[in-house]
Amino acid sequence: MDASKLLNPERRMLKMMQKDESKSWSLEEVLSGCDWNDQAVAVGAGLGLSNLGFVETFESVETVIKLSSGGLSALDSGLLEARLWNWISTSKTPDMATLQQSFERHEAGPGVGLLKRIGVGLEGGKFSAQDPAKVEEIISKRSEFLSNLPATVESLEPEMLEHFKGRRDFIESQDTTTRTWKITSDGLSVSSDLLVEKEMVSEITPELLQSENWRDAEFRAFDVTLESSTPRTGRSHPMQALIERIRNIFLEMGFSELVEDYVQTAGWNMDALFIPQDHPAREMQDTFYLDNPQKMTLPDDLMELWSKIHIDGGDTGSLGWGGKFSKDISQKGLLRTHTTVNTIQYLADNPSKACRMFTVDRVFRKEAIDRTHLPEFHQIEGIIMEEGANLQMLVTTLKTFYEKMGYPEVRVRPAYFPYTEPSLEIEVKWRGKWLELGGAGIFRPEVTEPLGITHPVLAWGMGLERLAMLVLGLDDIRQLYISDLEWLRNQPII
Ligand code: PHE
Repeated sequence: MDASKLLNPERRMLKMMQKDESKSWSLEEVLSGCDWNDQAVAVGAGLGLSNLGFVETFESVETVIKLSSGGLSALDSGLLEARLWNWISTSKTPDMATLQQSFERHEAGPGVGLLKRIGVGLEGGKFSAQDPAKVEEIISKRSEFLSNLPATVESLEPEMLEHFKGRRDFIESQDTTTRTWKITSDGLSVSSDLLVEKEMVSEITPELLQSENWRDAEFRAFDVTLESSTPRTGRSHPMQALIERIRNIFLEMGFSELVEDYVQTAGWNMDALFIPQDHPAREMQDTFYLDNPQKMTLPDDLMELWSKIHIDGGDTGSLGWGGKFSKDISQKGLLRTHTTVNTIQYLADNPSKACRMFTVDRVFRKEAIDRTHLPEFHQIEGIIMEEGANLQMLVTTLKTFYEKMGYPEVRVRPAYFPYTEPSLEIEVKWRGKWLELGGAGIFRPEVTEPLGITHPVLAWGMGLERLAMLVLGLDDIRQLYISDLEWLRNQPII
């Protein structure tokens, strides 16, 4: 054993340990005994001494069980079985139909199975238990189990642990390694002369090299394989980082960005895009109409143009939709339901200048919030307008975009939008499955001709959150916006 190669921290640690040959030193004791505050230094010194046979290292792993998202929300609002049982005990009509009205579908379905397993079933059309005391006991044991977390795995009842392991996202385990060090007889016999700390050079400077001092200096060795803590630095939210990456890809592909207002008229959001005025997506259930401004005045000649197109196709050769056209409907204020409203306005202002534009921005639809839907989300929208632009070019552009995002397998399928012909659906292969990410197509003459647009326009609109779910491997879209710090810290740099 060569003690002359000892590094300063190893010298200090060994010197301290020589004072007490029978003691097992914990990390905290080493840190305070050596007057260090960097765990990595202590762990590194312990490792070095261990390799030289001067100390023996003991490691023990402790497993702690903590709550994950499902468990946390159960702790907050009560276990599903507890809420169901409470409902059964207090409801006048504890039957299946009322259950389905009182609980959301994602709870009612699994809830019935949960109840069955704790002895609650349908008896003559009503939920009841043979042994209510037993049901309550199970429920309170389960709730108590959750409220005791975090706890070490040994302290928990194995049966309960198994139960919650089987429930999705309820609990998770975390291992922590604890080390202690004890001096060996070889360590004890190292002479104290060798344990005097030396001046160490950890940074090579021009001054050091110009002087002669480097000849006798001791250089601090770096061990890049050592574990160290991850620094907690500020960083972009994954959504922001993803938007930035998408922006860069489109800029790289020669597109310019278009940033426009959320507040728009039904005229531009829908009429200009030849969406019939009685289209179901225009209903209050799908679109957020505004009280203020309730009405936004549009030029009469513009509405006249749309009116003609909608009623009989005007000069475009189209038959239009027939029926009536209301200028009041056109002038209604709304929150844009898609970013296509901005591309069409851009084209109306620049009808004959070839262009490639994109937008990554927020849109609004009256959706109930669930695993895959949000009422506010983002679209990745783009257009190419130039002479000779064609379907092949559209498909290639979309493929190139997704390829740059890391998804080389892209396919398109026929679809329908009132404003494009042909219309496509874009799908990307992810974990062996095809996922629909957006729509695309070539604007119809009913859209382009009244605005005097001279070249073919290729257009697409894709969901950003859907893409984020692929990139981050999520199965719940809400995770993107709940500001879960622990989750945010552990996200990959996009
Ligand atoms: N606007 C469409 C949507 O919101 C997408 C789309 C854009 C389709 C452009 C065709 C052309 O889903």
